[in-house]
Amino acid sequence: MNILILGSGGREHTFAYKIVQSNRCSQLFVAPGNAGTSEIAINISISVNDFEAIKNCVTRNDIKMVIVGPEDPLVNGIADYFLSSPELKNVMLIGPSKAGALLEGSKERAKEFMIDHKIPTAAYQSFTKETLKEGQLFLETLNPPFVLKADGLAAGKGVLILNNIEEAKNELEDMLSNSKFGAASSTVVIEEFLDGIELSVFVLTDGKNYKILPTAKDYKRIGEGDVGLNTGGMGAISPVPFVDDVLMQKIEERIVIPTVNGLQKENIDYKGFVFIGLINVNNEPFVIEYNVRMGDPETEVVLPRIKSDLVELFEATFHQELDKTSIEIDERAATTVMIVSGGYPEAYEKGKIISGIKNIEDSIVFHAGTSIKDEKFVTNGGRVLAITSMDMNYKKALKKSYQNIEKLHFDAMNYRKDIGFDLT
Ligand code: AMP
Ligand code: GLY
Repeated sequence: MNILILGSGGREHTFAYKIVQSNRCSQLFVAPGNAGTSEIAINISISVNDFEAIKNCVTRNDIKMVIVGPEDPLVNGIADYFLSSPELKNVMLIGPSKAGALLEGSKERAKEFMIDHKIPTAAYQSFTKETLKEGQLFLETLNPPFVLKADGLAAGKGVLILNNIEEAKNELEDMLSNSKFGAASSTVVIEEFLDGIELSVFVLTDGKNYKILPTAKDYKRIGEGDVGLNTGGMGAISPVPFVDDVLMQKIEERIVIPTVNGLQKENIDYKGFVFIGLINVNNEPFVIEYNVRMGDPETEVVLPRIKSDLVELFEATFHQELDKTSIEIDERAATTVMIVSGGYPEAYEKGKIISGIKNIEDSIVFHAGTSIKDEKFVTNGGRVLAITSMDMNYKKALKKSYQNIEKLHFDAMNYRKDIGFDLT
């Protein structure tokens, strides 16, 4: 069958890499894609939020399956759009309905869902412009650090963690009264700070059954030692070495099962990924966020470890038959290191010629922000390439990624040299 992937990052290149390996796939399309996807699929220059253009692309190319990479089109209701269209309703779209996507689209909604379904999470209250004073008083009842979260999508920048009470009160006012994050901060969730180590768990669900995918840990800060500004993610490791069977069982029983059951109880149509951000506090897992898609760069380490045919898993997801499938995982560890443009996550230049990709051996190069100019790969975004390697343990895998990165070059290229530094 013909398949379409929506998105243009390393995550989407990784989906493409797996999907072209399936003999269920005849022709793969990626919209809009990047230079990496153009080598294995047909890139179509349309925006992930232009539903009408996507509909035309699907009907014109006889596409039978659509995988939605980023959250935006999901929060905007692409799954509902497909279901309500006679020409599209039988197309196997992998991604939740708008009601499901609200678990990522609204932090307040996610917190209410967790409370209603008794899923462990940090204590919280939410506030609006009208209740700013109450919010500031609430801050005084908490111990630092203070966690302030813009309710809506804020491109990963909407969470502030502050040590000083006055600063926290001022930021709350800035978010609520001065629209610091635009409409996304018209409601702010203030929550208890959880002191522990983060990890992510990925689940594929058909709304009734689920499969737990490999765990991963990403490195969000630009600076080594986890300092500096937040990025989309500078590297990732899978599996997370400190997750043992006991912790995984707690995560499944206390978090994964109640989440899937909660979706079902609330009649939410959900055929897609749930990416659960967790903090492990003394071996007790708490949810800090839901995302309704795969992570980037987590996908670059999770998918290469899945040996099963991804297209078959997606077909079972669409038909609510995930219980009839099994999933085979590669025991080896996978690591990825993101190569970024100098200046990222602040201003950076594009169009720099990338050299050395063809010299990479024994690692996979996933393209993120790249395009082709005069038959050469050039940079076209902040995050440019993800170099993924696999080996018996994450240290050996990382060594391969770093050795291969030595062969790459573009003007002002940057990457973190300490991925995995906090693991033993
Ligand atoms: P989020 O967008 O909800 O994942 O939050 C961004 C980052 O803020 C997370 O990756 C955590 O590092 C941190 N964070 C969020 N919520 C909490 C919390 N309750 N306690 C401690 N850190 C948090
Ligand atoms: N790497 C974090 C995310 O995709 O949200």
